[in-house]
Amino acid sequence: MAGSEIPKTMRALVAPKYCWPEDGYEVVELPTPQIRDPKELLFRVHAASIATGETQVARGAVRFLLGKSKMPIRLGVEGAGVVVAVGAEVTAFKPGDEIYTFTVTRPMNLASAGGVCAEYAVTREALAIRKPAHVPFVDMCTLANLVTVVQAADRALEELRANGVEGGLRGKTVFVAGALGALGAPAAQLLKRELGAGRVVASVSTAKVPLVEALLPGVVDRVVDYTRVPRLADAVPRGSVDLVFSTQWGPEGTFALADRERGVVASLAGAPPPALLRAILPPLPAPVYWLAALAQLWYAFCLRGTRVRYFFLSGEPSVRADLVRAVDLLARGTVKALHRVVPLDDIVAIRAEAQKVATGKGGIGKLVIQIV
Ligand SMILES: NC(=O)c1ccc[n+]([C@@H]2O[C@H](COP(=O)([O-])OP(=O)(O)OC[C@H]3O[C@@H](n4cnc5c(N)ncnc54)[C@H](OP(=O)(O)O)[C@@H]3O)[C@@H](O)[C@H]2O)c1
Repeated sequence: MAGSEIPKTMRALVAPKYCWPEDGYEVVELPTPQIRDPKELLFRVHAASIATGETQVARGAVRFLLGKSKMPIRLGVEGAGVVVAVGAEVTAFKPGDEIYTFTVTRPMNLASAGGVCAEYAVTREALAIRKPAHVPFVDMCTLANLVTVVQAADRALEELRANGVEGGLRGKTVFVAGALGALGAPAAQLLKRELGAGRVVASVSTAKVPLVEALLPGVVDRVVDYTRVPRLADAVPRGSVDLVFSTQWGPEGTFALADRERGVVASLAGAPPPALLRAILPPLPAPVYWLAALAQLWYAFCLRGTRVRYFFLSGEPSVRADLVRAVDLLARGTVKALHRVVPLDDIVAIRAEAQKVATGKGGIGKLVIQIV
């Protein structure tokens, strides 16, 4: 099954103990993973991404909720590469095939996930998809967030219809928080280029204002420097937005922008309702569900007296149909990958860029580690 050219050990990006990226991420030598299930495949990783959730696990921020992680904590749940060996029951792929995979399914046991940011990784056949020949491996590593914004946009369109808004986003105004972030960039492009939003208003911090048009040409109609105003509503007129796409913690800070009669707020970084929390994570202590329920009451309180429809969405890249749509958007160039690419050899740059992911400040697009 495994070819003789597969080495017994490989380089992998890890947190050797709970730590912030800049305090300790390292590239170490680990045993090359092996296929343990007939539906698994082993691939030579060419590129892998680092996401906020992984950095939270790696610094121990969720250890009391999800349990202790095995050390060292291996980073990377998403990557792209070339298949080198397949399990006995794998039929869709063979050695030599170029694939993308997001390796986590629900409930997401983040404490034991990871390991794609390495020279070799194992995934399940059902979680792999073929890479279009012309799309670079590094670009594929932005797919999980693209699936998330596709799913959020679908739901947002349903909510708009439920509020009596017909005709989708044509001619409508949307607001995207953090337009040069890993979620914000695919969101702004999808809403403008695929769904035809009439006007995209987007927020970034001061240094990024001049970069928006260069990095997302023709996508953003008005850029707001969110660091220059105490409240967003000081820069964007209250009630002027049909769809708010909130990618930052504290979605209630964007509520005032939404049209009070028919607006929708899609949140990707708020508190999930308890039922969703139960679906996406392993069982948690009861007070966590109480707090999640309280947060929903808080959101409802903030929206009192309006007909604004609010929802939180957790992306699910294992939904095959949505993954296929996201690959197609990338392959057509409708949504272009926005990323910063750092080689696995450059641990100093990896630590600095992963620190931006962990703090949610300063990064541009997705952090992708290039391995080959
Ligand atoms: N629901 C889901 O399925 C899902 C999926 C992926 C991620 N998330 C969550 O979504 C959030 C963003 O994730 P990401 O992958 O996009 O991370 P990211 O690329 O690190 O996003 C952070 C970006 O947002 C900008 N930002 C920070 N505070 C802001 C504010 N108040 N207003 C506008 N922009 C602000 C930062 O830019 P500046 O440097 O300009 O401040 C930074 O570049 C995280 O909390 C993450 O956990 C949720």
